[in-house]
Amino acid sequence: MSKVIYYFSGTGNNIAVAKGLCENIPDMEMYPITDLLENKVINEKYDLVGFTVPSYYSHIPPIVAECIKNLHFSNNQKVFSIIGCAGNRGHATEDIRHLVKACGKEVDYEYMIFFAGNYILSYNAFPKWYQNLVLKLSKKKITKIAKQLLEAKRAKPLGKGLFYSAKYEEALQKSIRKYSQTGLEYTVSNECSKCSQCIQICPVNNITMESGLIKFGSNCQQCMACIQWCPNKAIDYKGIAKDRIRYHHPDILVKDMID
Ligand SMILES: Cc1cc2nc3c(=O)[nH]c(=O)nc-3n(C[C@H](O)[C@H](O)[C@H](O)COP(=O)(O)O)c2cc1C
Ligand code: SF4
Ligand code: SF4
Repeated sequence: MSKVIYYFSGTGNNIAVAKGLCENIPDMEMYPITDLLENKVINEKYDLVGFTVPSYYSHIPPIVAECIKNLHFSNNQKVFSIIGCAGNRGHATEDIRHLVKACGKEVDYEYMIFFAGNYILSYNAFPKWYQNLVLKLSKKKITKIAKQLLEAKRAKPLGKGLFYSAKYEEALQKSIRKYSQTGLEYTVSNECSKCSQCIQICPVNNITMESGLIKFGSNCQQCMACIQWCPNKAIDYKGIAKDRIRYHHPDILVKDMID
């Protein structure tokens, strides 16, 4: 039987998880989770089905919820979730647990992996020493997760995320509701070389070129991919990212993001 992992990623951390598992688990395939927007049936050739996604404001990105909603699993399939975040997964594990349950299935294995944060509109890139430390730990954790999945060793369901409380929910939802508007207000400077990389890299096809100018649609997930990967640092929001250092997972290349 084959296995599959679906990922959502803006700066490569969750792609690194998917790639790492594919290297350690024979017959594992990886696909962008957005493939599940159209095709809601998980092929029965897979006996293990996983999701690796970030946490944004303590929740999974809205598009990820759309992708997992109404999936059709087979009875024999085991399901796992990984939240590849900056250490505060909040309610993201529970989001996936509830969505999978609504599809009539249980999540069998739940994990979280620490990575460097990528939210450049909120903070600068983490210091290099910290990035290197979490990178090393994340590689170990990926190997450990692969081993547990291969041994079908049931990982305990994750408990409540640190610092998460329902009393923050209203404020979190307010931030989440702003994703679309914020994306519409992104600006592109004269440094833009019209290379089209941002168009290709946006995981939800929210960027187009119209009359030679980059345009943003209303489906922005705030993944930071366009801002972080632009080779000319041409994309910004209200000047916040202008002088900040760009981040992406060091082992992931533009071609991994686009493929
Ligand atoms: C809009 C936004 C909100 C975020 N909120 C959280 C959060 O609540 N908790 C957390 O641990 N990380 C948060 N992060 C950081 C990402 O989850 C983290 O860097 C993740 O590893 C990025 O994965 P990727 O490289 O696969 O895109 C946030 C990032 C963004 C862009
Ligand atoms: S990636 Fe940057 S330089 Fe290339 S088209 Fe987009 S904004 Fe312009
Ligand atoms: S427009 Fe930029 S931040 Fe928004 S979803 Fe696309 S790549 Fe991510």
